[in-house]
Amino acid sequence: MANIFLIGATGGVGSRLIPKLIERGHILTGLHRKPEQADALRAAGVTPAPGDIMDLSTDELEMMLQGSDLAVFSAGAAGSGWDRTTAIDGDGPIKLIDAARKTGVKRIYLVSVFPDAGRKRDTSEGFEHYMEEKKRADAALAESGLEYVIIRPGTLQTAEGDGRVRAGHAIPYGNVARGNVAAFIAELIDSPDINREIFELTDGDVPAGDAVSALRRS
Ligand SMILES: NC(=O)c1ccc[n+]([C@@H]2O[C@H](COP(=O)([O-])OP(=O)(O)OC[C@H]3O[C@@H](n4cnc5c(N)ncnc54)[C@H](OP(=O)(O)O)[C@@H]3O)[C@@H](O)[C@H]2O)c1
Repeated sequence: MANIFLIGATGGVGSRLIPKLIERGHILTGLHRKPEQADALRAAGVTPAPGDIMDLSTDELEMMLQGSDLAVFSAGAAGSGWDRTTAIDGDGPIKLIDAARKTGVKRIYLVSVFPDAGRKRDTSEGFEHYMEEKKRADAALAESGLEYVIIRPGTLQTAEGDGRVRAGHAIPYGNVARGNVAAFIAELIDSPDINREIFELTDGDVPAGDAVSALRRS
């Protein structure tokens, strides 16, 4: 059982991760921006923590993280603009890293992006910026000295998924259901021996638990 702080708790991946972590006995606190989200989080068994990752200082985030063992960052600007992408996808995880270092939060699970995303289509400058900011956050976490797992999902689909995935250090690009991303993260959290790793993730044929077991280094 762990005390887990979720950034992105109300999102497509985050909201699907909540019941999977609750049923495993974890204790959750979820950051949320809008007051009306607090009741829904409470109803889902999560302690709501109001705040916007763009506005929170590292000190304020540090206060919120007190008592948490680990954090999941699955927030994203979702194409809402250049500066917001910088502030949320790039600076957000870095703020979390800085705050985690000052508290007992030992480990961060970071939802990043599959490096092949968009390669087969003309991409906008904004999309390239998004990719750069995701990479900036990944690099900061990998260099942070904290424990971490970085998850790089393919194109997210609004679906629960069947719990079957393909995961590895390098796999072919593909889609992945948001529920499958959540299932994979829940399995990773319950496999703490898997540490300081970066995994690509798509839908696949292997139950998420078996996929995570196969990633264990012997
Ligand atoms: N779209 C794709 O195909 C794709 C592919 C690979 C990776 N990803 C990444 O996967 C992750 C999860 O995606 P998703 O589909 O779950 O995203 P989502 O549904 O758009 O949810 C984003 C979450 O971030 C929160 N958020 C946004 N701005 C925030 C802020 N300033 N302060 C605090 N929280 C904020 C949102 O809160 P609200 O409820 O208040 O909006 C929401 O909880 C993201 O990091 C995304 O970049 C996406």
